[in-house]
Amino acid sequence: MLQLAERMSRAKPSAIMVVAEKAKKLKAAGRDIISFSIGVPNFLPGEHVYAAARDALAHDSGQYGSNRGSDALLDAFLVHLKEGGFDGYERKNLATGVGAKHVLFNLMYALLNEGDEILIPVPYWTSYVDIADILGAKTVLLPCPAEQNYKLTAAQLEAAITPKTKLLLFNNPSNPTGMVYSEAEVAALADVLVKHQLWILSDDIYNRMIFDGLQYAHLVKARPELRDRVILIDSISKTYGMPGWRVGLIAAPEQVALSQVTLNSNHITNLPEVVTAAATAALSGPQDVPREKNKDFSRRRDEVMAVLESIPGLHCPKPQGAFYAFPDISVAFGKHHGTTVIANDVDFCNVLLDVKGVACVPGSAFGEPKAIRISYTCKPAELTDGLNRIKQFFAELV
Ligand SMILES: Cc1ncc(COP(=O)(O)O)c(C=O)c1O
Repeated sequence: MLQLAERMSRAKPSAIMVVAEKAKKLKAAGRDIISFSIGVPNFLPGEHVYAAARDALAHDSGQYGSNRGSDALLDAFLVHLKEGGFDGYERKNLATGVGAKHVLFNLMYALLNEGDEILIPVPYWTSYVDIADILGAKTVLLPCPAEQNYKLTAAQLEAAITPKTKLLLFNNPSNPTGMVYSEAEVAALADVLVKHQLWILSDDIYNRMIFDGLQYAHLVKARPELRDRVILIDSISKTYGMPGWRVGLIAAPEQVALSQVTLNSNHITNLPEVVTAAATAALSGPQDVPREKNKDFSRRRDEVMAVLESIPGLHCPKPQGAFYAFPDISVAFGKHHGTTVIANDVDFCNVLLDVKGVACVPGSAFGEPKAIRISYTCKPAELTDGLNRIKQFFAELV
Protein backbone atom coordinates (compact mmCIF):
# COMPACT_ATOMS: atom_id res chain seq x y z
CA MET A 1 0.00 0.00 0.00
CA LEU A 2 1.26 3.50 -0.83
CA GLN A 3 2.29 5.59 2.18
CA LEU A 4 2.36 9.29 2.93
CA ALA A 5 5.77 10.90 3.38
CA GLU A 6 7.40 10.14 6.74
CA ARG A 7 7.18 13.81 7.80
CA MET A 8 3.38 13.58 7.80
CA SER A 9 3.58 11.19 10.77
CA ARG A 10 4.85 14.23 12.70
CA ALA A 11 2.09 16.59 11.49
CA LYS A 12 -1.00 17.12 13.61
CA PRO A 13 -4.06 19.36 13.39
CA SER A 14 -4.03 22.54 15.47
CA ALA A 15 -5.17 21.75 19.04
CA ILE A 16 -6.98 25.09 19.19
CA MET A 17 -9.07 24.22 16.17
CA VAL A 18 -10.05 20.88 17.78
CA VAL A 19 -11.68 22.67 20.77
CA ALA A 20 -13.27 25.29 18.53
CA GLU A 21 -14.77 22.57 16.34
CA LYS A 22 -16.25 20.77 19.37
CA ALA A 23 -17.82 24.02 20.60
CA LYS A 24 -19.21 24.70 17.11
CA LYS A 25 -20.81 21.24 16.94
CA LEU A 26 -22.48 21.66 20.34
CA LYS A 27 -23.78 25.06 19.28
CA ALA A 28 -25.13 23.62 16.03
CA ALA A 29 -26.89 20.96 18.11
CA GLY A 30 -28.76 23.73 19.95
CA ARG A 31 -26.63 24.09 23.11
CA ASP A 32 -26.09 27.56 24.60
CA ILE A 33 -22.33 27.79 24.03
CA ILE A 34 -19.96 30.66 24.67
CA SER A 35 -16.66 30.29 22.91
CA PHE A 36 -13.53 31.71 24.49
CA SER A 37 -11.52 29.30 22.39
CA ILE A 38 -10.47 30.82 19.12
CA GLY A 39 -8.16 33.78 18.73
CA VAL A 40 -10.05 35.77 16.12
CA PRO A 41 -10.81 39.47 16.44
CA ASN A 42 -14.52 40.33 16.79
CA PHE A 43 -14.50 43.23 14.35
CA LEU A 44 -14.25 43.97 10.65
CA PRO A 45 -11.89 46.45 9.00
CA GLY A 46 -12.93 50.00 8.08
CA GLU A 47 -14.98 50.81 4.98
CA HIS A 48 -11.88 52.15 3.19
CA VAL A 49 -10.52 48.58 3.10
CA TYR A 50 -13.64 47.28 1.34
CA ALA A 51 -13.59 50.27 -1.02
CA ALA A 52 -9.99 49.46 -1.99
CA ALA A 53 -10.93 45.81 -2.56
CA ARG A 54 -13.90 46.81 -4.77
CA ASP A 55 -11.71 49.22 -6.72
CA ALA A 56 -9.10 46.50 -7.27
CA LEU A 57 -11.83 44.20 -8.53
CA ALA A 58 -13.06 46.86 -10.94
CA HIS A 59 -9.53 47.29 -12.33
CA ASP A 60 -8.43 43.66 -12.08
CA SER A 61 -5.47 42.80 -14.34
CA GLY A 62 -6.14 39.09 -14.02
CA GLN A 63 -2.37 38.52 -14.13
CA TYR A 64 0.21 36.91 -11.90
CA GLY A 65 1.78 39.34 -9.46
CA SER A 66 5.11 39.84 -7.71
CA ASN A 67 6.52 36.90 -5.72
CA ARG A 68 7.71 39.36 -3.09
CA GLY A 69 4.47 41.34 -2.87
CA SER A 70 3.27 44.41 -4.78
CA ASP A 71 5.33 47.59 -4.45
CA ALA A 72 2.31 49.40 -3.00
CA LEU A 73 1.92 46.80 -0.24
CA LEU A 74 5.64 46.74 0.49
CA ASP A 75 5.75 50.54 0.67
CA ALA A 76 2.74 50.62 2.99
CA PHE A 77 4.53 48.13 5.23
CA LEU A 78 7.69 50.23 5.17
CA VAL A 79 5.69 53.24 6.40
CA HIS A 80 4.05 51.06 9.04
CA LEU A 81 7.50 49.90 10.18
CA LYS A 82 8.79 53.46 10.31
CA GLU A 83 5.85 54.55 12.44
CA GLY A 84 6.69 51.71 14.80
CA GLY A 85 10.26 53.01 15.11
CA PHE A 86 11.91 50.62 12.62
CA ASP A 87 14.02 52.71 10.24
CA GLY A 88 16.40 51.64 7.51
CA TYR A 89 14.43 48.86 5.91
CA GLU A 90 13.97 48.84 2.13
CA ARG A 91 11.81 46.82 -0.23
CA LYS A 92 14.62 44.28 -0.61
CA ASN A 93 14.25 43.48 3.10
CA LEU A 94 10.56 42.63 2.80
CA ALA A 95 8.45 39.70 1.70
CA THR A 96 4.82 38.65 2.04
CA GLY A 97 2.93 35.40 2.49
CA VAL A 98 -0.49 33.92 3.10
CA GLY A 99 -0.74 35.03 6.73
CA ALA A 100 1.90 34.98 9.45
CA LYS A 101 1.43 31.23 9.79
CA HIS A 102 2.53 30.63 6.20
CA VAL A 103 5.37 33.08 6.65
CA LEU A 104 6.52 31.28 9.81
CA PHE A 105 6.41 27.94 8.04
CA ASN A 106 8.46 29.27 5.13
CA LEU A 107 10.97 31.00 7.40
CA MET A 108 11.57 27.86 9.43
CA TYR A 109 11.78 25.90 6.18
CA ALA A 110 14.43 28.29 4.90
CA LEU A 111 16.45 28.65 8.11
CA LEU A 112 16.44 25.20 9.72
CA ASN A 113 18.05 21.95 8.67
CA GLU A 114 16.66 18.69 10.05
CA GLY A 115 17.96 18.20 13.58
CA ASP A 116 18.81 21.90 14.13
CA GLU A 117 17.92 23.16 17.58
CA ILE A 118 15.26 25.79 18.00
CA LEU A 119 14.54 27.51 21.32
CA ILE A 120 10.87 28.01 22.12
CA PRO A 121 9.75 29.71 25.35
CA VAL A 122 6.78 27.97 26.98
CA PRO A 123 3.84 28.77 26.86
CA TYR A 124 4.11 29.00 23.08
CA TRP A 125 1.74 29.50 20.19
CA THR A 126 0.97 25.91 19.13
CA SER A 127 2.08 26.16 15.52
CA TYR A 128 5.71 26.94 16.43
CA VAL A 129 6.19 23.43 17.75
CA ASP A 130 3.94 21.81 15.14
CA ILE A 131 5.86 23.42 12.26
CA ALA A 132 9.24 22.58 13.81
CA ASP A 133 8.09 18.96 14.20
CA ILE A 134 6.99 18.71 10.58
CA LEU A 135 10.37 20.06 9.47
CA GLY A 136 12.29 17.67 11.74
CA ALA A 137 13.91 20.45 13.81
CA LYS A 138 14.74 19.70 17.45
CA THR A 139 12.62 21.85 19.75
CA VAL A 140 14.22 22.95 23.01
CA LEU A 141 11.41 24.14 25.26
CA LEU A 142 12.16 26.79 27.87
CA PRO A 143 9.57 26.70 30.65
CA CYS A 144 8.36 30.17 31.70
CA PRO A 145 5.69 29.42 34.32
CA ALA A 146 3.15 31.84 35.81
CA GLU A 147 5.56 32.53 38.71
CA GLN A 148 7.84 34.35 36.22
CA ASN A 149 4.89 35.97 34.46
CA TYR A 150 5.24 33.57 31.53
CA LYS A 151 8.27 35.52 30.32
CA LEU A 152 11.69 34.30 29.24
CA THR A 153 14.51 35.69 31.36
CA ALA A 154 17.95 36.68 30.10
CA ALA A 155 19.61 34.16 32.45
CA GLN A 156 17.39 31.38 31.15
CA LEU A 157 18.17 32.31 27.56
CA GLU A 158 21.92 32.47 28.22
CA ALA A 159 21.86 29.04 29.86
CA ALA A 160 19.86 27.50 27.00
CA ILE A 161 22.02 28.59 24.08
CA THR A 162 24.52 25.97 22.91
CA PRO A 163 26.67 25.74 19.77
CA LYS A 164 23.82 23.71 18.27
CA THR A 165 21.22 26.46 18.75
CA LYS A 166 20.13 27.76 15.38
CA LEU A 167 17.07 29.84 16.12
CA LEU A 168 14.98 31.48 18.85
CA LEU A 169 11.26 32.03 18.51
CA PHE A 170 10.22 35.17 20.34
CA ASN A 171 6.61 36.28 20.54
CA ASN A 172 5.74 39.66 22.05
CA PRO A 173 2.91 40.39 22.93
CA SER A 174 2.25 36.74 23.52
CA ASN A 175 -0.38 34.33 22.44
CA PRO A 176 -1.51 32.54 24.66
CA THR A 177 -0.60 34.67 27.71
CA GLY A 178 -1.15 38.29 26.64
CA MET A 179 2.15 39.15 28.31
CA VAL A 180 4.16 42.11 27.08
CA TYR A 181 7.89 42.40 27.73
CA SER A 182 9.12 45.66 29.20
CA GLU A 183 11.95 47.63 27.59
CA ALA A 184 14.35 46.45 30.29
CA GLU A 185 13.37 42.82 29.80
CA VAL A 186 13.79 43.03 26.03
CA ALA A 187 17.12 44.84 26.41
CA ALA A 188 18.42 42.10 28.73
CA LEU A 189 17.46 39.42 26.21
CA ALA A 190 19.01 41.44 23.37
CA ASP A 191 22.26 41.73 25.34
CA VAL A 192 22.44 37.94 25.49
CA LEU A 193 21.55 37.49 21.83
CA VAL A 194 24.27 39.81 20.52
CA LYS A 195 26.85 37.45 22.02
CA HIS A 196 25.67 34.38 20.12
CA GLN A 197 25.18 33.55 16.46
CA LEU A 198 21.56 32.47 16.02
CA TRP A 199 18.52 33.52 14.03
CA ILE A 200 15.64 35.15 15.85
CA LEU A 201 12.09 34.97 14.59
CA SER A 202 10.29 37.85 16.26
CA ASP A 203 6.58 37.16 15.98
CA ASP A 204 5.21 40.68 16.43
CA ILE A 205 1.72 40.22 15.07
CA TYR A 206 0.05 41.71 18.19
CA ASN A 207 2.33 44.77 18.19
CA ARG A 208 -0.57 47.25 17.86
CA MET A 209 -2.45 45.65 20.73
CA ILE A 210 -0.66 46.88 23.84
CA PHE A 211 -2.40 48.37 26.88
CA ASP A 212 -1.68 50.55 29.90
CA GLY A 213 0.37 53.03 27.87
CA LEU A 214 3.25 50.54 27.60
CA GLN A 215 5.84 51.20 24.92
CA TYR A 216 6.40 48.51 22.34
CA ALA A 217 9.88 47.24 23.09
CA HIS A 218 11.75 45.26 20.45
CA LEU A 219 15.02 43.35 20.22
CA VAL A 220 16.06 45.32 17.12
CA LYS A 221 15.38 48.64 18.83
CA ALA A 222 17.31 47.55 21.93
CA ARG A 223 20.35 46.37 19.93
CA PRO A 224 20.24 47.55 16.29
CA GLU A 225 23.18 45.28 15.43
CA LEU A 226 20.76 42.36 15.76
CA ARG A 227 19.06 43.49 12.56
CA ASP A 228 21.12 41.12 10.47
CA ARG A 229 19.74 38.15 12.43
CA VAL A 230 16.25 39.16 13.59
CA ILE A 231 13.25 38.65 11.33
CA LEU A 232 10.21 40.80 12.13
CA ILE A 233 6.92 39.04 11.45
CA ASP A 234 3.66 40.95 11.10
CA SER A 235 0.14 40.24 9.90
CA ILE A 236 -3.05 42.10 9.13
CA SER A 237 -5.13 39.36 10.79
CA LYS A 238 -5.48 40.63 14.35
CA THR A 239 -4.72 44.36 14.10
CA TYR A 240 -7.23 45.03 11.34
CA GLY A 241 -9.80 42.31 11.97
CA MET A 242 -8.80 40.56 8.73
CA PRO A 243 -7.80 36.98 9.64
CA GLY A 244 -9.56 35.50 6.62
CA TRP A 245 -7.79 37.78 4.11
CA ARG A 246 -4.51 35.97 4.78
CA VAL A 247 -1.68 38.46 4.56
CA GLY A 248 1.56 38.07 6.50
CA LEU A 249 4.63 40.26 6.14
CA ILE A 250 8.28 40.14 7.12
CA ALA A 251 11.15 42.59 7.47
CA ALA A 252 14.42 40.71 7.38
CA PRO A 253 18.03 40.64 6.24
CA GLU A 254 18.04 40.80 2.44
CA GLN A 255 19.16 37.18 2.02
CA VAL A 256 16.31 35.92 4.22
CA ALA A 257 13.68 38.03 2.48
CA LEU A 258 14.96 36.71 -0.85
CA SER A 259 14.63 33.12 0.39
CA GLN A 260 10.94 33.81 1.01
CA VAL A 261 10.51 35.28 -2.47
CA THR A 262 12.10 32.14 -3.93
CA LEU A 263 9.80 29.89 -1.91
CA ASN A 264 6.79 31.95 -2.97
CA SER A 265 7.85 31.62 -6.60
CA ASN A 266 7.66 27.83 -6.25
CA HIS A 267 4.58 27.77 -4.07
CA ILE A 268 1.91 30.48 -3.90
CA THR A 269 3.41 32.70 -6.65
CA ASN A 270 1.72 35.84 -5.31
CA LEU A 271 -0.98 37.23 -3.06
CA PRO A 272 -4.18 37.93 -5.01
CA GLU A 273 -4.63 41.46 -6.34
CA VAL A 274 -7.83 42.21 -4.41
CA VAL A 275 -6.34 40.94 -1.15
CA THR A 276 -3.20 43.00 -1.77
CA ALA A 277 -5.25 46.15 -2.30
CA ALA A 278 -7.24 45.54 0.89
CA ALA A 279 -4.10 44.90 2.93
CA THR A 280 -2.41 48.00 1.52
CA ALA A 281 -5.46 50.10 2.45
CA ALA A 282 -5.53 48.60 5.94
CA LEU A 283 -1.86 49.39 6.57
CA SER A 284 -1.82 52.86 5.02
CA GLY A 285 -5.37 54.08 5.69
CA PRO A 286 -6.93 55.57 8.84
CA GLN A 287 -5.96 53.66 11.96
CA ASP A 288 -9.02 54.47 14.07
CA VAL A 289 -10.46 50.93 14.02
CA PRO A 290 -7.34 49.30 15.51
CA ARG A 291 -6.94 52.22 17.93
CA GLU A 292 -10.55 51.91 19.17
CA LYS A 293 -10.26 48.14 19.39
CA ASN A 294 -7.16 48.45 21.48
CA LYS A 295 -9.09 50.50 24.02
CA ASP A 296 -11.96 48.03 23.89
CA PHE A 297 -9.65 45.04 24.49
CA SER A 298 -7.98 46.83 27.35
CA ARG A 299 -11.43 47.33 29.00
CA ARG A 300 -12.27 43.68 28.40
CA ARG A 301 -8.96 42.65 29.94
CA ASP A 302 -10.01 44.58 33.05
CA GLU A 303 -13.35 42.75 33.16
CA VAL A 304 -11.66 39.36 32.74
CA MET A 305 -9.11 40.11 35.45
CA ALA A 306 -11.75 41.37 37.89
CA VAL A 307 -13.59 38.05 37.67
CA LEU A 308 -10.48 35.84 37.66
CA GLU A 309 -9.05 37.66 40.67
CA SER A 310 -12.29 37.02 42.59
CA ILE A 311 -11.91 33.23 42.24
CA PRO A 312 -10.13 31.80 45.30
CA GLY A 313 -6.84 30.05 44.56
CA LEU A 314 -6.73 31.02 40.90
CA HIS A 315 -3.68 32.95 39.70
CA CYS A 316 -3.50 34.91 36.46
CA PRO A 317 -0.51 37.11 35.57
CA LYS A 318 -2.05 40.33 34.26
CA PRO A 319 -2.06 40.42 30.45
CA GLN A 320 -1.07 43.76 28.90
CA GLY A 321 -1.60 43.01 25.24
CA ALA A 322 -3.30 40.88 22.57
CA PHE A 323 -6.70 39.50 23.66
CA TYR A 324 -5.91 36.51 25.81
CA ALA A 325 -5.73 35.67 29.49
CA PHE A 326 -3.93 32.55 30.66
CA PRO A 327 -4.95 31.74 34.25
CA ASP A 328 -3.24 28.99 36.22
CA ILE A 329 -6.24 26.82 37.15
CA SER A 330 -4.30 24.02 38.85
CA VAL A 331 -6.19 24.78 42.09
CA ALA A 332 -9.05 22.81 40.47
CA PHE A 333 -6.98 19.66 39.91
CA GLY A 334 -8.07 16.70 42.05
CA LYS A 335 -11.45 18.32 42.75
CA HIS A 336 -14.85 17.01 41.64
CA HIS A 337 -17.69 18.54 39.70
CA GLY A 338 -20.60 16.31 40.65
CA THR A 339 -19.13 12.83 40.27
CA THR A 340 -16.54 13.84 37.72
CA VAL A 341 -12.93 14.26 38.82
CA ILE A 342 -10.89 17.05 37.26
CA ALA A 343 -7.42 15.61 36.95
CA ASN A 344 -5.92 18.08 34.51
CA ASP A 345 -6.47 21.01 32.14
CA VAL A 346 -8.11 18.85 29.46
CA ASP A 347 -10.64 17.45 31.98
CA PHE A 348 -11.23 21.00 33.20
CA CYS A 349 -12.04 22.30 29.72
CA ASN A 350 -14.18 19.28 28.83
CA VAL A 351 -16.27 19.45 32.00
CA LEU A 352 -16.56 23.24 31.78
CA LEU A 353 -17.83 22.91 28.21
CA ASP A 354 -20.21 20.07 29.10
CA VAL A 355 -21.79 21.59 32.19
CA LYS A 356 -21.50 25.35 31.61
CA GLY A 357 -21.22 25.57 27.84
CA VAL A 358 -18.01 27.63 27.93
CA ALA A 359 -15.20 26.65 25.57
CA CYS A 360 -11.60 27.44 26.58
CA VAL A 361 -8.40 25.89 25.27
CA PRO A 362 -6.42 23.59 27.60
CA GLY A 363 -3.01 25.06 28.40
CA SER A 364 -1.30 21.84 27.34
CA ALA A 365 -2.00 22.89 23.74
CA PHE A 366 0.53 25.67 24.48
CA GLY A 367 2.89 23.48 26.52
CA GLU A 368 1.60 24.62 29.96
CA PRO A 369 -0.84 22.07 31.40
CA LYS A 370 -1.54 24.05 34.59
CA ALA A 371 -3.44 26.76 32.71
CA ILE A 372 -6.26 27.43 30.26
CA ARG A 373 -6.47 30.09 27.57
CA ILE A 374 -9.37 32.52 27.56
CA SER A 375 -9.71 34.48 24.33
CA TYR A 376 -11.92 37.47 25.12
CA THR A 377 -12.97 38.66 21.68
CA CYS A 378 -16.59 37.43 21.84
CA LYS A 379 -19.65 39.70 22.07
CA PRO A 380 -19.59 41.88 25.23
CA ALA A 381 -22.69 40.23 26.78
CA GLU A 382 -21.20 36.78 26.14
CA LEU A 383 -18.00 37.84 27.86
CA THR A 384 -19.81 38.79 31.08
CA ASP A 385 -22.02 35.70 30.95
CA GLY A 386 -19.12 33.34 30.15
CA LEU A 387 -16.93 34.74 32.93
CA ASN A 388 -19.77 34.34 35.42
CA ARG A 389 -20.24 30.74 34.31
CA ILE A 390 -16.52 30.08 34.91
CA LYS A 391 -16.78 31.64 38.36
CA GLN A 392 -19.87 29.56 39.11
CA PHE A 393 -18.07 26.43 37.88
CA PHE A 394 -15.22 27.01 40.35
CA ALA A 395 -17.74 27.55 43.14
CA GLU A 396 -19.30 24.16 42.39
CA LEU A 397 -16.01 22.23 42.62
CA VAL A 398 -15.51 20.15 45.77
C1 LIG B 1 1.36 34.42 17.87
C2 LIG B 1 0.73 34.16 16.55
N1 LIG B 1 1.51 34.12 15.45
C3 LIG B 1 0.99 33.91 14.23
C4 LIG B 1 -0.37 33.70 14.05
C5 LIG B 1 -0.89 33.48 12.66
O1 LIG B 1 -1.51 34.60 12.17
P1 LIG B 1 -2.04 34.69 10.68
O2 LIG B 1 -3.53 34.78 10.77
O3 LIG B 1 -1.44 35.94 10.10
O4 LIG B 1 -1.61 33.47 9.96
C6 LIG B 1 -1.22 33.71 15.15
C7 LIG B 1 -2.66 33.46 14.99
O5 LIG B 1 -3.39 33.15 15.91
C8 LIG B 1 -0.65 33.97 16.44
O6 LIG B 1 -1.43 34.03 17.53
